[in-house]
Amino acid sequence: MAMVCLSDFEAYAKMYLPKIAWDFFEAGADDCSTRDENILAYKRIRLRPRMLRDVSVMDIRTKLLGTEISFPVGIAPTGFHQLAWPDGEKSTARAAKAMNTCYIASTYSTCSLEDISAAAPGGLRWFQLYIHRNRAVSKQLVQRAAAAGFQGLVLTVDLPYTGKRRNDVRNGFCLPPHMKLKNLEGAFEVCKMSLLDPSVTWNDIYWLQSLTHLPIIIKGILTKEDAELAVRHGVQGIIVSNHGGRQLDGAPATIDALVEVVEAVQGRVEVYLDGGIRKGSDVIKALALGAKCVFIGRPALWGLAYKGEEGLQDLLRILQDEFRLSMALAGCANVSEIGRHLVQFSKL
Ligand code: FNR
Repeated sequence: MAMVCLSDFEAYAKMYLPKIAWDFFEAGADDCSTRDENILAYKRIRLRPRMLRDVSVMDIRTKLLGTEISFPVGIAPTGFHQLAWPDGEKSTARAAKAMNTCYIASTYSTCSLEDISAAAPGGLRWFQLYIHRNRAVSKQLVQRAAAAGFQGLVLTVDLPYTGKRRNDVRNGFCLPPHMKLKNLEGAFEVCKMSLLDPSVTWNDIYWLQSLTHLPIIIKGILTKEDAELAVRHGVQGIIVSNHGGRQLDGAPATIDALVEVVEAVQGRVEVYLDGGIRKGSDVIKALALGAKCVFIGRPALWGLAYKGEEGLQDLLRILQDEFRLSMALAGCANVSEIGRHLVQFSKL
C-alpha cells in the first residue's frame, strides 16, 4: 500500500487495528460534532497565495520556547501507544527525535517516562500532566519528568471528568491486562483514572510552579478569558485544544478559537494548537492565524499502527513535505513570512 497522505495511514489503521483500539483512538464525545468540526473548519479557510517570491531555498524550521525543531509540527499527548504498536511510546520518542521535533508524552503512557527518555536520549520532550486527587502522585510525576530530562510540563485542563465517548461505553473499553499505565504503577492502585481531581483551579498553577522550574504550558484553552488568565498566572505557553473533540461536544473547532486566543495573548506567550491537522496546508492556516506550532494526536497513532517508529517517521515526513510545498506555493520561503494576510474565510 503506497502511503501518500495522512488519510492513507488512517485507512490502514482502521483496517488492521483491533476494533476496540480503533474505536478508542477515533472516539469523540457524544455525537462527535466538535471532533468533526475540527477538520471541517479548515475547509472554510482559503489561502491567498503570493507569486514571484523566490522560493528556491526553503527554511521550514521554527523554535519552541527557544529550542529549534525541523518544522512546526509536534506530537500531541495521547495515551496507550501500545494499543497501536508493541513498543508503544518508546517508538514515538524515537520517531520524534529522528524527525527533530517535539513529543509530548502523556501521563497515561504504557511506557514509563524514564523508559521513554532512555529510548531517544537528547530528543525534545515535554511531559503532559493530569492532576490527580492524590497530589503526592502528581508531585512525584513532575519531579520524575524533570529528572528524566523532559524540558516542559504540559498541564491538561479540559478533563475534570472524561467526556462521554459512546463506542468506548458500548465496548466496555479498558486496557488489556498485559498493558500497564507505567507512570502510575503502584500509585495507580490507590488512585485510579476516575480519581482525576475535578477541583483543580487556576491557583494550582502556582502549586505546580512551586514544584518545578520547568516551563508550564497549559493545554485545553478555547477562550480569550482563559487565555488572559493563563498569561496572568505566568504560564509560558498555551495549547488551544478541545482534546480532539473528546471532551465537551459543542465546543468550537480549535482553528476557530485560535483567533481570539491569539488576540488576547498579544504575543506575551507562545500559542500552539492541536485538533484536525491532516495536511500541510492546515499547518500554514494555523500559523497564519497566529499559532507558533501545531501538534498531531490521532495521526501519530495511525503512523505507529502502520509500522511503529518507521511508520510514524514516514507520516511526519509526508506532512513535512506537504507543508514545505504549500509554503512554497503560497509564496513563503521562511516560516516568519507566514502571516494573517495569507488567509481568507470562505463565504461558502
Ligand atoms: C488524546 N488526547 C490527550 N490529551 C492529553 O492531554 N492527554 C492524554 O492522555 C490524551 N489522550 C488522548 C488519547 C487519544 C486516543 C486521543 C485521540 C487524544 C488529546 C490530544 O492530545 C489532542 O488534543 C488531540 O488528539 C488533537 O486532535 P487530533 O490531532 O487527534 O485531531
